[in-house]
Amino acid sequence: MRSSDSDLSLRVWDPFVRVFHWSLVACVILNFFVVEDGETLHQIVGYTASALVVARLVWGFVGSEHARFANFFPTPARLRTHLAAIRAGGHDFQPGHNPVGALMMLALMALVLALGLTGLLQTTDAFWGEEWLEEIHEALAASLIALAGIHAAAAIVMGRLERVNLIGAMITGVKRRTREQSGAR
Ligand code: HEM
Ligand code: HEM
Repeated sequence: MRSSDSDLSLRVWDPFVRVFHWSLVACVILNFFVVEDGETLHQIVGYTASALVVARLVWGFVGSEHARFANFFPTPARLRTHLAAIRAGGHDFQPGHNPVGALMMLALMALVLALGLTGLLQTTDAFWGEEWLEEIHEALAASLIALAGIHAAAAIVMGRLERVNLIGAMITGVKRRTREQSGAR
């Protein structure tokens, strides 16, 4: 949808997606760097992160156009087309998520859910004090932070390459492109 004729701005991320994103980032950073001992606050923040992801999965079916999985699910065909365009040195501007970004997004959300599950298990009688479970939880957390770092770097690099402020779009909801950039399509 065009929100302006002069600059072809695209309204892509609805308020739910934006609030979801930055709340999830806050929860993950809090639990990894601030309250990482498994205490009550850690558990509340961790379950909040999992609940955010569950809500996002539902939103992927009922949300606005670019929030829906049908719009960006990284099928092999979409991945092939995207990678071929990049290999050919061209741009493959996507109003919503590009398929590689979508793969990353799914991995990040899966890791948050896995952290919720392994965290929950650690509090049960059956698994309480099991060191291997703590180690899995820690490894999942480390992987999440590493992937999130790559994800944030990719958002910056792709944004520069395509000259679209992707991070700004996740804040305002709007991707701004000039008529020139879009080939006046
Ligand atoms: C975004 C989600 C989460 C992240 C990033 C996260 C991350 C971490 C990290 C980095 C540690 C410290 C590991 C160490 O160095 O010992 C930890 C420990 C722990 N977490 Fe989580 N966690 C999350 C969710 C949860 C949830 C939902 C629970 C639910 C109860 C939970 C329960 C625990 C417990 C009990 C420990 C202590 C384990 C130990 O004694 O080593 N976590 N978590
Ligand atoms: C723990 C850290 C992070 C997690 C778990 C995370 C997770 C996600 C998820 C799940 C999405 C998909 C959004 C949706 O459709 O609902 C997303 C998109 C996005 N994230 Fe993050 N993110 C993290 C950190 C960051 C940081 C630090 C930045 C900025 C520097 C960032 C920038 C973006 C951008 C720009 C998008 C949209 C990409 C596009 O245009 O396709 N993220 N992120």
